[in-house]
Amino acid sequence: MELPGQVVAWAVSDHALLKELLTDARVSKDPRRHWPAWINGEITPEWPLFTWVAVTNMFTAYGSDHRRLRKLVSTAFTARATETLRPRIERMTADLLDGLAATPQGQVVDLREEYCYPIPIQVICELFGVNDEGTRKELRRLVDSIFNTAAAPEEVAATFQGMHTVLSDLVALKRREPGDDMTSVLIAAREEDGTRLTEAELVDTLLLVISAGHETTVNLLDNAIHALLTHPDQLELVGRAGPPGTT
Ligand code: HEM
Repeated sequence: MELPGQVVAWAVSDHALLKELLTDARVSKDPRRHWPAWINGEITPEWPLFTWVAVTNMFTAYGSDHRRLRKLVSTAFTARATETLRPRIERMTADLLDGLAATPQGQVVDLREEYCYPIPIQVICELFGVNDEGTRKELRRLVDSIFNTAAAPEEVAATFQGMHTVLSDLVALKRREPGDDMTSVLIAAREEDGTRLTEAELVDTLLLVISAGHETTVNLLDNAIHALLTHPDQLELVGRAGPPGTT
């Protein structure tokens, strides 16, 4: 297939073939190892998918590097850590639903904007200590731009730059004023022993979790809600009667 910028790539959908490719040492997810055009410097920050590829984090890391990076953030995503977030998320959800319920009869609501977007953003921002409203807005704008593969070349380059500025500023702030958040945990790991995390890995790990925490779950929520609303029999099962087997 052809990616934006006339970059030719494989889009593999056959399971057996995928398995073969993913376990073949000649195939790599790190462009620095396998992509001649990247290695030769032909791919510049204006390329629409640049921010996805030009990173040093779990998306590009292998073996012990991957394990090291994953271990540093895994404490935030254990079953127990996630469970402690439950009351907060339930409160956010209830508040948003109250807001939707207060909409005057007959007025159209943008469910994606009013409900699906705010929840993941608030959760991930709280988890990583992004408390300033302006920074949250800026992050959302930048993440939206990263996911916009039709963005103009100047926007792509500006987004890459802007993302690194916002995240470096966040790191600087948390270095001055550490908090009870994952950004501070990552900084502490870096400061304690420089071999556990480089500065680029620190910023790019924030980039990965914060952008993954924005878009993916938003799409999950609005697609799930749309699917349920267009399949009333299924809505009936999960919404009113409870999951199968509970009635
Ligand atoms: C429905 C929601 C989500 C979907 C469909 C999804 C999908 C994926 C996929 C397909 C990958 C593998 C990418 C690859 O290596 O080729 C991945 C990796 C990853 N995702 Fe998600 N994701 C979701 C939610 C999230 C959230 C909420 C976060 C952060 C809070 C997150 C953080 C990550 C991280 C850190 C990795 C790299 C893991 C590793 O390499 O070990 N994801 N995700």
